[in-house]
Amino acid sequence: MSSPAVRVGVLGCARIALRRMLPAFSRTPGLDLAAVASRDPDKARAAAAEFGCRPVTGYAALLERPDIDAVYVPLPAALHESWVEAALRAGKHVLAEKPVTLTAGRTAAVLDLARARGLVLMENVMFVHHGQHAAVLSLLRAGEIGELRSFEATFTIPAPPDDDIRFRADLGGGALSDVGVYPVRAAQHLLGPGVTVHAAVLTTGPGRTVDTAGAVLLRRDDGVTALLSYGMEHAYRSSYTLVGSTGRITVERAFTPPAEHRPEILLDRGGRVEKRLLEAEDQVGATVRAFRAAILTGGAPELAAATLEQARLLDDVRRLAGPAPQRWPVAPNGAPAGPDRQYTMDPP
Ligand SMILES: NC(=O)c1ccc[n+]([C@@H]2O[C@H](COP(=O)([O-])OP(=O)(O)OC[C@H]3O[C@@H](n4cnc5c(N)ncnc54)[C@H](OP(=O)(O)O)[C@@H]3O)[C@@H](O)[C@H]2O)c1
Repeated sequence: MSSPAVRVGVLGCARIALRRMLPAFSRTPGLDLAAVASRDPDKARAAAAEFGCRPVTGYAALLERPDIDAVYVPLPAALHESWVEAALRAGKHVLAEKPVTLTAGRTAAVLDLARARGLVLMENVMFVHHGQHAAVLSLLRAGEIGELRSFEATFTIPAPPDDDIRFRADLGGGALSDVGVYPVRAAQHLLGPGVTVHAAVLTTGPGRTVDTAGAVLLRRDDGVTALLSYGMEHAYRSSYTLVGSTGRITVERAFTPPAEHRPEILLDRGGRVEKRLLEAEDQVGATVRAFRAAILTGGAPELAAATLEQARLLDDVRRLAGPAPQRWPVAPNGAPAGPDRQYTMDPP
């Protein structure tokens, strides 16, 4: 006998929800997109009409509904924790946007709460569900690049509009939470457990109140290093490279490949470069299916462990980097402008 459909409600008409997640919930067998909530009844009505589900005004009202089994939380980062906790206390399984909370301690607490209540709390890190990374790991394990020496990963995106939630300190904005999390998770995924943060830099762009870029150096117990960079006022890049003793593996479009994209893995063995073309895969659909499977099988402990490990690494990045220094405005001649320094081309 097939399992009954998991009835999903959505807290907030976020862009990621409307563009990616609601379509995936709608087309995934075994899931029933039942309701979408917004603070604004008009927004809820418009989204519900588009996706053929029920509109609800206010997130608390959606959590009170007995006809919802699971919720998706795509709110600004600072609001994740309270709504994740409220959803779990209301007896709902939760798919939460990354990061689940702003600290490792709070992430551990909500993961514990989910476990204690027999509910799934899964973080919406989608790229790990794309098969291209499993293909990379197979090449690595087969010794195609010799012994692994180091890893490099970059996720940089062009600046969102100035009023975007990512630039709002009060809403938990900042590049580490929004984009830095991807290369950090990639290092965990490809290097395995046992990576620690060795050094970190956070940068605040001119006129911003949150970190807008950063770099992290990780080290695995055996000396393998990972150099990560990320930012949200940058030319677009979404890639990683594994460097081995005899070759390299590079993946472009690593973190948010469109469903129709056919991944190309570049395998460089001593200068002989081979392109391995893979089948296109929809990582959004794969993530939603993984959420459903976790609900049906009683959880995905390995994903929960990775979420907690990621939160600990992000905490360590913040601790080692210290407060992100405000970068001074740059004068037209390129020299930094500041109270101690006049515009000049002369060296200090
Ligand atoms: N996993 C991924 O691949 C991925 C990709 C993109 C974004 N994200 C994550 O998804 C989350 C949402 O990102 P987004 O770009 O979609 O954001 P967004 O379009 O700004 O949406 C955020 C939503 O949160 C609700 N909200 C509640 N209180 C708010 C407040 N005080 N200010 C602003 N909005 C408030 C709003 O819904 P209502 O007005 O309808 O109540 C709003 O539509 C973030 O955590 C982001 O990191 C993840």
